[in-house]
Amino acid sequence: MMKYTATTDENEVLLQKQYMEKAAGYVAALEEEIGHKPLCCVTTFGCQMNARDSEKLSGILKEIGYTLTESEEDADFVIYNTCTVRDNANQRVYGRLGFLNSMKRKKPHLKVALCGCMMQEPSVIEKIRKSYRFVDLIFGTHNIFKFAQLLVTMFENNDMIIDIWQETDQIVEALPVSRKYPYKSGINIMFGCNNFCSYCIVPYVRGRERSRDPKEIIREIEQLTADGVVEIMLLGQNVNSYGKTLDQPITFAQLLQEIEKIEGLKRIRFMTSHPKDLSDELIDVMKHSGKICRHLHLPVQAGSDRILEAMNRRYTKAQYLALVDKIRTAMPDISLTTDLIVGFPGETLEDVEETIDVVKKVQYDNAFTFIYSKRTGTPAAAMENQVPEELVKEGFDKLLKVVQDTAKERAARLKGSVMEALVEEVNEQDKSLMTGRLSNNMLVHFPADPSMIGQLVMVSLDECRGFYYIGHIV
Ligand code: SAH
Ligand code: SF4
Ligand code: F3S
Repeated sequence: MMKYTATTDENEVLLQKQYMEKAAGYVAALEEEIGHKPLCCVTTFGCQMNARDSEKLSGILKEIGYTLTESEEDADFVIYNTCTVRDNANQRVYGRLGFLNSMKRKKPHLKVALCGCMMQEPSVIEKIRKSYRFVDLIFGTHNIFKFAQLLVTMFENNDMIIDIWQETDQIVEALPVSRKYPYKSGINIMFGCNNFCSYCIVPYVRGRERSRDPKEIIREIEQLTADGVVEIMLLGQNVNSYGKTLDQPITFAQLLQEIEKIEGLKRIRFMTSHPKDLSDELIDVMKHSGKICRHLHLPVQAGSDRILEAMNRRYTKAQYLALVDKIRTAMPDISLTTDLIVGFPGETLEDVEETIDVVKKVQYDNAFTFIYSKRTGTPAAAMENQVPEELVKEGFDKLLKVVQDTAKERAARLKGSVMEALVEEVNEQDKSLMTGRLSNNMLVHFPADPSMIGQLVMVSLDECRGFYYIGHIV
């Protein structure tokens, strides 16, 4: 098997910086033409990995002279960073492309680019080539570090530019990043996935697992904290297998211990943990940490052993429940969340009862419940026993009700307690309130001043409104 160790290529960074200068010239010329600073809108679909990639794209766009906007209508350049994990994400992109086409007719200088996971699928590229001829630039998940270069190619050509790579062993660090929040940030610790759960397309569109060098990760976090970041979210499809492919292997728990030492950093989160790789060492490090948040997202997907096996998850219901027991024994106050899928090929209502049983036993603080979506090219898509829609719906509704009831009960337990919250933003509905995030990832709204954004405060959770709290600073 080929060993995928990430290399940091300094020449590549220099090259991309040259392209940024060149692209800046084209953006300046566009400004002259349209009479205002060109606006760019990056719309993100999908998970936190994509959100982080969008920050990288935004960093380069700002560097070359674009002003970022949230409004696609106002923009002179629209980029969709797409997701393909379930078909509804794809459908949303196609729907919005129709709207962009009509915008482009009114505003001929409008540029449209597509990138992200969906673009790694050949059938998608075929469809866009055929039916969405107006798209200017298409690239994938493996070459986003080439963005500046691709932009130059786009400015110098009138045809649709398509550049999709099947794989990469490169990790290019130190390109500009424009962060969405001043006080918190995601940070990639690894890319890709080797697990091949039979329903999942991620390994095909994100490639093989590659870990970043721990020194690079530490350096990036040090820079972030120097820049005012107090909370970081370590990102990977399976953070528990971090470091295994490095020349000098290191475990995820060891990485956490190194990160814990960084001065100025207050909170550490991570996503996602695969249950099969969650070590005793990690539980121990979490238990003794003052910075790792009291929250673990531990996707179980299903409760029936037969379905878990067909999903290639490589644990049984009993093993998962034993793991949860171990975690709760070590950290009784930890909040657990999960992902659930209903309607995997061959799943019966009895199987769904097994999933419901897991939810009841674990008492999740929250669970994302998904309807199985058939992804072309995955082993599950070829299975013959696809479940009829009505049956899926029945199981889904039943499971969702249990999930919601459990989450409400769990939330109510904390009413009246005092907990630390990171002040994040002004409440959208009531501007006199600020929204804070607890260590367990739940939200609390309380009267405070916007100047407190980014600070940690102690908040009394006075009222529980289902999935969030109303409180006051103590
Ligand atoms: N790497 C993470 C999950 C990434 S995808 C993990 O293994 O936990 C996020 C979630 O999307 C998955 O946990 C799963 O619940 C869901 N998902 C993935 N593929 C799906 C599909 N084909 N249909 C429905 N849900 C899916
Ligand atoms: Fe998909 Fe499984 Fe990898 Fe998660 S671990 S990204 S569900 S293949
Ligand atoms: Fe979607 Fe890609 Fe993330 S498929 S869930 S954006 S890794």
